[in-house]
Amino acid sequence: MDSKESSETDLQHIWVKVQQKLKITSRRIGSAIPYIAVDHRYDDIGSTHLTWWTNGFWAGLLWQMYHATQDQQYLEVARIIEKKLDAALAQEDQLDHDVGFMWLNAAVTDYKTTNDPEAKARGLKAAQILAGRYQPSGRYLLAWNGVDKKGQVIVDCFMNLPLLYWASETFNQPEFAQIATNHAYTATKALVRADGSVNHIAVFEPQTGELLKTLGGQGYGEGSAWSRGQAWGIYGLALAYRNTNDSYFLNQAKLVANAFIANVALSGYVSHIDFRAPEEPVYWDTTATAIAICGLLELSQYLPTDQQQLYHASALKMFWALTERFCDFNPADDELLTGGSAKYHRASDREVPIIYGDTFYIEALLRLLALDLTIY
Ligand code: GLY
Repeated sequence: MDSKESSETDLQHIWVKVQQKLKITSRRIGSAIPYIAVDHRYDDIGSTHLTWWTNGFWAGLLWQMYHATQDQQYLEVARIIEKKLDAALAQEDQLDHDVGFMWLNAAVTDYKTTNDPEAKARGLKAAQILAGRYQPSGRYLLAWNGVDKKGQVIVDCFMNLPLLYWASETFNQPEFAQIATNHAYTATKALVRADGSVNHIAVFEPQTGELLKTLGGQGYGEGSAWSRGQAWGIYGLALAYRNTNDSYFLNQAKLVANAFIANVALSGYVSHIDFRAPEEPVYWDTTATAIAICGLLELSQYLPTDQQQLYHASALKMFWALTERFCDFNPADDELLTGGSAKYHRASDREVPIIYGDTFYIEALLRLLALDLTIY
């Protein structure tokens, strides 16, 4: 058996374990909307904070499971969550640019899977909210709300742009795509550094659109390299290439991917929270690794064969490092991926199971098995 066959057999073995676990945990978690697990039980952040940016990821995970297994149980729970989120969609002032993450996962994916007209309408409403955040002065989408967040653009937003491209194509409204593309150019120039590391936040002067400064955001500090931001960069820039066909984005995606691979090679192919934090203490962020795997696999498919190997082989190394060191396949525990970190400077947000870690780990596995559903 050569190493490729062996690896595919091993992936199938993990897929069986994931199915066995999710069959049980999806019943136990049900239509709660999980965020962080404590003592092996996910919370239900949906009951206290329905507009929170992560509230689509459980539905997205369930849609991936439905797509790969055709088990109706997953569809039914995902639909309940989608309907629950209607009360969030009605609170536009409480929502931000992450309507992309929320309704790509919770509604657009339903529409792509089942053609459901209500899901399509939810996707359009979310796209209109996102497009309404466009700032023509600087040609960008405003990330967050509040006077202290004026002019702020963040790397994560690359992942929200597919909502606009979807709406543009589905409703034949090219202005959605134009906004997304304008933002992608602005964000790439402001956020991607020459060495392939990425700033989390760029701040523009709201009236003139002039770039004022960059901020450290959820990473260690200004000038550091927050690993999840780097991972959003790989995946988001590859998606920007897919949607624009401009090789500028492909080259930028490669640059960011190369930097990510070089950094995780120093730590056993799992990411620290920040690649430029002090050596001690070591804090892991497995969510960044899971997202980066998906991004590397997205990227590799746009490259000539002789360039694919670096990205595909690195994605596999990262996948197995997560699987062997950080996965919990015990159905008695809710979480699948341990060791996620929401931000560097808050202890309760470090090295905990976070729902989007599970979602992107499953997407990574299904991508490697060619069983995945396209959410972004
Ligand atoms: N989008 C916010 C984060 O990645 O934590």
